[in-house]
Amino acid sequence: MASGDRKMVPAAPGEHGTVPPVFEPRFQDTFEQLLRWRRDVRHFDPTPLDAGLVERILDAACLSPSVGNSQPWRFVSVEAPATRAAITANFERANADALAGYSGARAERYATLKLSGLRDAPTHLAVFCDESTEQGHGLGKATMPETLRYSAVLAVHTLWLAARSHGIGVGWVSILDPHAAARTLAVPEHWALVAYLCIGRPLSDSDTPELERLGWQDRTARCRQVLRR
Ligand SMILES: Cc1cc2nc3c(=O)[nH]c(=O)nc-3n(C[C@H](O)[C@H](O)[C@H](O)COP(=O)(O)O)c2cc1C
Repeated sequence: MASGDRKMVPAAPGEHGTVPPVFEPRFQDTFEQLLRWRRDVRHFDPTPLDAGLVERILDAACLSPSVGNSQPWRFVSVEAPATRAAITANFERANADALAGYSGARAERYATLKLSGLRDAPTHLAVFCDESTEQGHGLGKATMPETLRYSAVLAVHTLWLAARSHGIGVGWVSILDPHAAARTLAVPEHWALVAYLCIGRPLSDSDTPELERLGWQDRTARCRQVLRR
């Protein structure tokens, strides 16, 4: 049956008496555009973001799915200049180590990449996974404990899309010593760093990943393949 032939399920009030929305084809197209234009951003306008907007994006992130409904994501807004400087120094050390792992033309190309917007992004947000959370009562944890961190990753992705829907760019920085970053941010010891995010208005938009535009790595058709068993 073609999707256009599908019978619509009539809207029924939800748990709180709200009527479920109907996502029209026009919204579906717009949502696909959001996915196409999301981008990892490394070049930011340093103008501070409206605090209410950041709160709204965080609220959206908290709607993410999580194993056992554990909601293990924990957010740290990194604001103090000295703390940001320590994170930036951490990135620069890790990036130099990463560069040393390449040789020849690949090393030359790596050296030209801009792999963080730490110096310009007006908002820095560290996302941790609380590995000792009691929420969710351990459901799913016995067989796949890593699903707790996957849940925090989903919160990052939701935040990423929500931000982009407001014209805000997000850049994920993983070239960091996570333990040193956790010490710098003085978080509880059972919090594991999942993502360090640079957030702000992007200097430009594109429908093509920057690493693709710079010839580092294309999107490949291979990843779209589905094995059938
Ligand atoms: C888990 C993860 C870690 C990443 N770490 C970095 C990073 O340290 N520095 C960086 O510039 N981009 C980082 N990225 C962004 C990727 O390079 C980017 O998602 C990829 O090139 C595709 O581009 P797009 O996000 O614009 O589609 C990371 C992305 C993910 C999902």
